Amino acid sequence: MTHILLTGGAGYIGSHTYLALVQAGYRPVILDDYSNSHPAVLARLQQISGQPVLHARGDVADVALVRGLLEQYQVAAVVHFAAFKAVGESVEQPLKYFDNNITGMLRLMQAMEQAGCRRLVFSSSATVYGDPDSVPITEAFPLRHSSPYGCTKVVCEEMIASMLGANPAWRAGVLRYFNPVGAHASGLIGENPQGVPNNLMPYVAQVAIGRRQHLNIWGDDYPTPDGTGLRDYIHVADLAEGHVAALDTLLRDQRSFTVNLGTGRGHSVLEVVAAFAAASGRPVPYQICPRRPGDIAQCYADPSLARELLGWRASRTLADMCADSWRWQSANPEGYV
Ligand code: UD1
Repeated sequence: MTHILLTGGAGYIGSHTYLALVQAGYRPVILDDYSNSHPAVLARLQQISGQPVLHARGDVADVALVRGLLEQYQVAAVVHFAAFKAVGESVEQPLKYFDNNITGMLRLMQAMEQAGCRRLVFSSSATVYGDPDSVPITEAFPLRHSSPYGCTKVVCEEMIASMLGANPAWRAGVLRYFNPVGAHASGLIGENPQGVPNNLMPYVAQVAIGRRQHLNIWGDDYPTPDGTGLRDYIHVADLAEGHVAALDTLLRDQRSFTVNLGTGRGHSVLEVVAAFAAASGRPVPYQICPRRPGDIAQCYADPSLARELLGWRASRTLADMCADSWRWQSANPEGYV
């Protein structure tokens, strides 16, 4: 059994990746402090997978704890999801982000070095490209961050690059996610934002279920076909399979890589609204508002490097993303309780 440690494994992307790894024959171990996730996910994972879930509660910055887990399970690789991700909050509380995201990465790599586990898959983000000069975005585009959150992703990528340069025994796969949405086809796990969602799809889902009156669309005067922002929405199940492909490649080929995980096509806010209304059979009322500070017009991936290096490509459509998101939302109107 190849054990894989998932830091933040109870979170949105972590929990979906857990299931994809089990399906691929890996034995994942979840480490989570539940600061932005819910322990109820563990029973759901067991229900779907039919297997007891290996898990530990704690902080990724607890070197003794992480080292203990790496040694106990003879972990082959770590997938590091555990991090804060709210852009607006990071502007208000940068130290919280530097501490959790950057110190967390530092302590994790120290624990890995001590335990002799030097295979790492890192959750990065398209946020590292800032406002790109053109689309689609390739991995060769310059990195620029426009928020403390984005800064933490760039810094963590640089920390990984430094380790790879310093010690030839290290291998890492850096995955730059575009906009993950949707939920597991079972409807048992999904995105569970605390408070008012920042991101589009969970907000739209809460409007459709009646928890919120209408969607605010942040600007319809962008230089895009319908004037609303264009993003590369990727089904979380495709993203989860991208992690399996990354681990397979990392453990088999023993080489490091940085790849975009996206679909390669952009959808506008109005397209998402229409697709969600069609999938749910519910109206999604909206009003047009001024642009959100810091937002960009368009962002979508050139996903060809991931296809070439990992043999992976996203296959699920926007209709699939909305249908699965709606199944999760309607079966769990208050999220995990
Ligand atoms: C946001 C972050 C990005 C982060 C990503 C993680 C900002 C400025 N950017 O990206 O750094 O990596 O989440 O998931 O927060 N929209 C509305 N109304 C809403 C919410 C969103 O119109 O209530 C629009 C936005 O203007 C945008 C699109 O929907 O055009 C997608 O927004 P969102 O889901 O927040 O993702 P990003 O802005 O791409």
